[in-house]
Amino acid sequence: MLDLSQKYTNFNTLILRRLRSLLSLFKYFVNYKRYLITGFLFIILSNIFAIFIPPIVRVSINGVLLKLNGDNLPKYIELLPEYFHDILGIALLSGGLILLAALLKGVCMYFMRMSVIVMSRHIEYDQKNDIFKHYQSLGQDFYAKNYTGDLMNRISDDVSKVRMFTGPAIMYSLNLTCMILMVVSMMLYINSAITIYVLVPLPILALSIYLVSDAMNRRSDHIQKRLSKITSFVQETFSGIQVVKSYAAENYFIRDFERLNQDYKNDNMSLVRVNGVFMPVVLALIGMSILITIYIGGNAVVQDKFSLGNIVEYIIYVNMLTWPVASLGYVTSLVQRGAASQRRIDEFMDVSPSEHIGKSKIEKLSNQIVFQDVWFRYDEKLPWVLQAVNFVIDAQSNFGILGTTGSGKSTIAKLLMGIYKPSKGHILIDGIPMQEYDRKSLNGIFGYVSQDIFLFSDTLKNNILIGARSQIDHNNLDAVINCSELEGEIKSFPNGMETVLGERGITLSGGQKQRVSIARALVRKPSILLIDNGLSAVDTKTEVTLKQNIKLWNSDNTSIFISHRISTVQDCDQVIFLDQGKIVESGSHKYLMNSSELYKRLNAKQSEF
Ligand SMILES: Nc1ncnc2c1ncn2[C@@H]1O[C@H](COP(=O)(O)OP(=O)(O)OP(=O)(O)O)[C@@H](O)[C@H]1O
Ligand SMILES: [Mg+2]
Repeated sequence: MLDLSQKYTNFNTLILRRLRSLLSLFKYFVNYKRYLITGFLFIILSNIFAIFIPPIVRVSINGVLLKLNGDNLPKYIELLPEYFHDILGIALLSGGLILLAALLKGVCMYFMRMSVIVMSRHIEYDQKNDIFKHYQSLGQDFYAKNYTGDLMNRISDDVSKVRMFTGPAIMYSLNLTCMILMVVSMMLYINSAITIYVLVPLPILALSIYLVSDAMNRRSDHIQKRLSKITSFVQETFSGIQVVKSYAAENYFIRDFERLNQDYKNDNMSLVRVNGVFMPVVLALIGMSILITIYIGGNAVVQDKFSLGNIVEYIIYVNMLTWPVASLGYVTSLVQRGAASQRRIDEFMDVSPSEHIGKSKIEKLSNQIVFQDVWFRYDEKLPWVLQAVNFVIDAQSNFGILGTTGSGKSTIAKLLMGIYKPSKGHILIDGIPMQEYDRKSLNGIFGYVSQDIFLFSDTLKNNILIGARSQIDHNNLDAVINCSELEGEIKSFPNGMETVLGERGITLSGGQKQRVSIARALVRKPSILLIDNGLSAVDTKTEVTLKQNIKLWNSDNTSIFISHRISTVQDCDQVIFLDQGKIVESGSHKYLMNSSELYKRLNAKQSEF
């Protein structure tokens, strides 16, 4: 018993928490209150017109019956002009009135949709913009922790589910409440005893529909997940089609696809089975209400407490109530899903923009970058990647970071770019700890060529100018293309600088990608140029020319080269040699060649090739 009440409380807290998340939509509703209020007014109006129809039917049936029996018509019919006093006249008049009421109801429903659904589209638009803007303000640490698919889902799928709440769910709930209140009051006014009997099946209808739609929702969610699995599988197969083909692994992939597809089919079959139950349940319960109306109403007619017209009127009322009651379950699930999605959106919206809280501005590096006893690991459970790293990079110097693969070179670059924070120790830039700088201002002094190069499916020009901040940067474009040795290739591309790269256009070679990425970094003459393995895919001759060009272009600024090749760092003023996260040697190339056995051995090995 205790267990049950505990479960009940937990369930209630869960629902409350979910509903509370919908409160964060309040600000959007305030912005669009005009639409909401207009929508509500049209909902009331459309129901007023709808509720007129059954009494008209009652009056006309009763009138016709009186006429057939040769009795006197009620006074309000007799007040009408003469030609409405016979059967045809009554039928024509009531038909016309019903048509008019239905027409007016239709017009109001159109405006109701135009207000509420339009409001939901506005909210969806604002919400998407807000989320995207917020995503852009989040630090790289956030992106390191969360899956891209998850980020995408929240801005697309979850926003759509919230829209189903702000639009259809709000509209149906208002309409439903309004209609139930009006119709039930009208029925109670006519005959409260009969009304109570007639309405008994409706709560059962609502409950059973809730249960069926819950089962349907759970199955649909499952199907949705299966579908995304299939999509990811197909996407990955096509991205890796070269590997599939070169290892003749087609059959393996076909088998896997068939298995996923089979699961998808099975789940769909189970949804169809539940779906099949839906309509019979609804129809059976409506039938029951109608039967009760006819049976109890019929008895009352015999006792002269109810008219035949009343029975038809009640049947119309029951039909009017059926769909609102039937949609209760659907609306509840829309609200619940909307609330769950909003909570997922809020989880990300509540993440504060960036861990850099500093306000200091920096224009350029004028003194030094200092790594002061820096230790770093990616997670507390993982081993140290950098241990007691100390070094100084002077402004306007060329600095080399050399090391074997996995020694922690890219990690140093990521620390410098503020993607991660040191686990212990400090990084000082011009004597001030990095985190005291404003992130935008700090990133502005770096030109970073990362080891994993990413180019957008956009024109070559836009890819290079992505970091350009001023007209001067834009004017640098031609010079930078020269500098990164891209001129020849660009001439050979079909549309020159306007050639689109990536899936929609041409694919660049590894070396071309590196040079585009270098051009992108150089275009704004960065105070600190940081190239992580950015020269690895070009031949030795091009590497020498590139380095000379970069030196000339960036002569007043600081350059940091990261590589496993001594040839890349040998002209640097200072080189640190990293092994398993520790600096094992440091000094100029000349000094290291004289003093370090390790360095000499590496040099000899690399010169063999
Ligand atoms: N995001 C990450 N999470 C956990 N461990 C990581 C992560 N990135 C890198 N590592 C680990 O940190 C160590 C150093 O990696 P890093 O990328 O800095 O090496 P590197 O010197 O740049 O190597 P390479 O020359 O191959 O580019 C490696 O052992 C790697 O497995
Ligand atoms: Mg690396």
